Amino acid sequence: MEIPSISDQTRQQHAASFGAAADAYRRGRPPYPRAAVEWLVPETARDVVDLGAGTGKFTEQLVAAGFEVVAVEPSAGMREQLAAAVPGVAVHGGTAEHIPLPDASADAAVMAQAWHWVKPETAIPEIARVLRPGGTLGLVWNIRDLTEPWVAELDDVMHEHTREEMDTAPELGGPFEQLERTEIRWRHTLTRAELLDMVASRSYVIVLPASERDELLGNVAELLNSHPDLADHEELTLPYVTRCTRAVRR
Ligand SMILES: C[S@@+](CC[C@H](N)C(=O)[O-])C[C@H]1O[C@@H](n2cnc3c(N)ncnc32)[C@H](O)[C@@H]1O
Repeated sequence: MEIPSISDQTRQQHAASFGAAADAYRRGRPPYPRAAVEWLVPETARDVVDLGAGTGKFTEQLVAAGFEVVAVEPSAGMREQLAAAVPGVAVHGGTAEHIPLPDASADAAVMAQAWHWVKPETAIPEIARVLRPGGTLGLVWNIRDLTEPWVAELDDVMHEHTREEMDTAPELGGPFEQLERTEIRWRHTLTRAELLDMVASRSYVIVLPASERDELLGNVAELLNSHPDLADHEELTLPYVTRCTRAVRR
């Protein structure tokens, strides 16, 4: 059966859905490899804006790396989790298209797992406005590595209802130049409960009718219990490819 890709209207509904599962998001989503932070943000940067910061998964890694971080996030539910998880960081309501910060106030901007929700034609000039000349924009996605058989099976179960199209190697253009990309392979160890939270925090799962969401989560639990590669494993090791894009503001 062909699974339909999502329309623009559905995309907006998905983009706005995260707050409803902010706690599952915080518990279940993976961190990012430290090498990604180092590649995406120059060590000479001081002021860094984390756009679409969510519950602060990337924000906390920026703070740990020693940057002065401002987080911008449209969902109040996600901001609440962020404020609790990364105390002391400045958190603002806003989007990549409307950033509540002055012109030329940041050395770097990043978007982790969020660029696919923005309108690039509005976000690109807005991010350029906030960056100082020579400032950088870094985009990053953690993608599950489907070359491992059980992960491919998990992917089939997760996408029984919808398949989300994501361009993880976007062009930027306009005020941005020197576009570069890299990929980092790594493995994330998590419990079964955390894996179920990872699934429950996907936008296309959040927006499902409750009965279909319960069925999907039940199918994931069944896979975890029955797959020969996973049986008797208390902890799971999920392989990821982290895709990174960076560019410099003219
Ligand atoms: C998959 S989450 C990523 C959160 C966080 N960056 C992380 O890595 O865990 C996507 C986030 O983008 C936010 N978002 C949706 N549309 C956005 C927009 N136009 N500008 C900025 N953020 C947006 C959502 O509210 C959500 O918190």
